[in-house]
Amino acid sequence: MCIKRAITILCSTGLLASTVYAQGKKPALNGQAKMNAFISQLMAKMSVDEKIGQLNLVTGGEATTGAVVSTNVEAKIKKGQIGGIFSLTTPAKIRRTQEIAVNSSRLHIPLIFGQDVVHGYKTAFPIPLALAASWDLPLIKHTARVAATEASADGINWTFSPMVDIARDPRWGRVAEGSGEDPYLGSEIAKVMVQGYQGDDLSKNNTIMACVKHFALYGAAEAGRDYNTTDMSLNRMYNEYLPPYKAALTAGAGSIMASFNDINGIPATANKWLLTDLLRKEWCFKGFVVSDYTGVTEMIEHGLGDLQQVSGRALNAGLDMDMVSDGFLTTLKKSLAEGKVSIASINTACRLILEAKYKLGLFDDPYRYCSEDRAKTEIFTPDHLTLARQAAAQTFVLLKNQNHTLPLKKAGTIAVVGPLGNTRTNMPGTWAVNADLANTPSLVEGLKAVAGDKATITYSLGSNLMADETQQTNGTMFGREIKRDTQTEQEVIADAVRDANKADVIVAALGEGSEMSGESSSRTNIEIPAVQQRLLAALLKTGKPVVLVLFTGRPLAIKWESDNVPAILNVWFGGTQAAYAIADVLFGEVNPSGKLPITFPQNVGQVPIYYSHKNTGRPLPDGGWFTKFRSNYLDVSNDPLYPFGYGLSYTNFSYGAIKLSGTKLKRGQGLNASVTVTNTGKVAGKEIVQLYLRDLEASITRPVKELKGFKKISLEPGESKEVIFTLTENELMFYNANLKYIAEPGDFNVFIGPNSRDVQTCKFNFSK
Ligand code: NOJ
Repeated sequence: MCIKRAITILCSTGLLASTVYAQGKKPALNGQAKMNAFISQLMAKMSVDEKIGQLNLVTGGEATTGAVVSTNVEAKIKKGQIGGIFSLTTPAKIRRTQEIAVNSSRLHIPLIFGQDVVHGYKTAFPIPLALAASWDLPLIKHTARVAATEASADGINWTFSPMVDIARDPRWGRVAEGSGEDPYLGSEIAKVMVQGYQGDDLSKNNTIMACVKHFALYGAAEAGRDYNTTDMSLNRMYNEYLPPYKAALTAGAGSIMASFNDINGIPATANKWLLTDLLRKEWCFKGFVVSDYTGVTEMIEHGLGDLQQVSGRALNAGLDMDMVSDGFLTTLKKSLAEGKVSIASINTACRLILEAKYKLGLFDDPYRYCSEDRAKTEIFTPDHLTLARQAAAQTFVLLKNQNHTLPLKKAGTIAVVGPLGNTRTNMPGTWAVNADLANTPSLVEGLKAVAGDKATITYSLGSNLMADETQQTNGTMFGREIKRDTQTEQEVIADAVRDANKADVIVAALGEGSEMSGESSSRTNIEIPAVQQRLLAALLKTGKPVVLVLFTGRPLAIKWESDNVPAILNVWFGGTQAAYAIADVLFGEVNPSGKLPITFPQNVGQVPIYYSHKNTGRPLPDGGWFTKFRSNYLDVSNDPLYPFGYGLSYTNFSYGAIKLSGTKLKRGQGLNASVTVTNTGKVAGKEIVQLYLRDLEASITRPVKELKGFKKISLEPGESKEVIFTLTENELMFYNANLKYIAEPGDFNVFIGPNSRDVQTCKFNFSK
């Protein structure tokens, strides 16, 4: 109690807030005072209706993610009943809409314009899970910067990104939209994405406000079914699921989105513990909180009452803006009259939204993001496309490469086979709502462009995406087209085998369609669809070398493929320039260096499987399969198919022994753990060196390994580099049983290696 009260005081005096976080460029004190005075003056003129109007976010209707679509938008803007619009693009449309607000509403308050700018804008970058596989923070930041440049040039000033939900269940389709399973990697990425979007000054016309989502624990949906319940201990939340949200806010994110899911019995949208006690009092967040799409109305389905009741509960819990439900708009005044909500809560929410507009510079110039000129010159530029190609190549993960099947020679005939081999629209990946689908080359087009006249590239479909037509339709929504052949399965395979037999090598482009992951795209079977597996088996029977180019937005269970196909390159969904980037890697012009940000299971029954699990009291000995009375399965080992952090290269890296600068770490001091890595192969390559820790004598059980550092290095053939990690007390800290963030004295294991499995170990002792 005392601690909480003390924190509240620190927050309200700004003492903690100033050190813990800032939103974008933190206004100088007089800037803050100026903003406060401006908003107070404005709010003094506002009626209750106008204040409630600011809390209403509607959709412009260009892209929707629910059954409900906002209506009478123009009339509502004129009446001051709308604070912001999303899914509306182009400077012309946004200017026209902003003019209605500024010229025709009583107080001329500008609107904020949002959009899901998730992995690029018109220039689409790889899906977030893929970007995470690059482990390349400057690169990820650069993609966010370019996304902000393009979006802001098209009129947008607020993005619903980054998505920082930790996800350990590949059945959940939205694993594609986040950075995977690990809180440390996820937090590092969350920070740079916010910095990339917001820059150092939110009022510049090429920076946009970030909205961290989905707060909270959305990635822990039961059974991997979207929007589903989460029930989790506070300890697990604090140590494993909350860090990336906090990191994004610490980096200055201006807004945060409440998630759809129920958390321990109360949906996030009306969860006072989450939105007020944790977010405001403990973390001192000063930006605004928006609901997810119809998140307020959906609480009627959760069984929390009618629209008036759920809207009141949401406001009272700390929600500031209602996305698409019209619940705040239509019920808050009545609730105010009935004493169910307070004017203080309405004022607080209204002020926070006006502050966001102020920080974006919209009161100075409501049209600062509406430049036709910028839209013509700053979107889909050659520079952005170059970055997209380079970025995509950094995200691919080489899972297997038996007998140097890869890289391919630019010679002879290459038979590209598979439903994903010649589709343009499928390349950018899910949540690329503004991607230029028509100007996105297909894999065949990319291979032809990169091979030039040195090799012949043929294409055959080989199989449908899925045998069942309805399932294929559901997995190829939003204009993502994958050709369907109406011949029998055997006939389609036979055509492909005929082509493949004439070739020197087969590139099988298989996996998921891009809409088989993402929102509302959960799967219970996470294998490559069976009809494609049958095609792959037929291709292998030709005896030609087969390279599986695996498209996916989630970890897939590819045990059979892993056992039988000589080379597998996991390319996720790589964005606008993915095809060229895949060709660059297949032909060896770029050496693959991506590493998995999420574990690939052997089968779906192992899920959830993640490297940083706790031990049981009866662990299976390393490398074991089944031992009676041990924690294991009868039918499969505990090992993943591919562990977190795993990925191969066209070269080999050898790791020298770990060197510790001492065996004791004292509070306030540092301890170096270093290793020499050598490129022992024939080509230059990049290696992501990873450091993990284990606390061996803690007051609560701790994971068997936790990532605490990584470095991506480049090495020429024969070159060695020493990689040094400095450990301090910070790396040892965790939330104890009382949720106190501490480092406890005792022994620790330090592990260094190329992935979370193949590590070397040393021990050190920490004391105060
Ligand atoms: C629903 C999704 O959950 C969220 O991520 C997205 O930002 C909103 N729809 C708005 O499109």
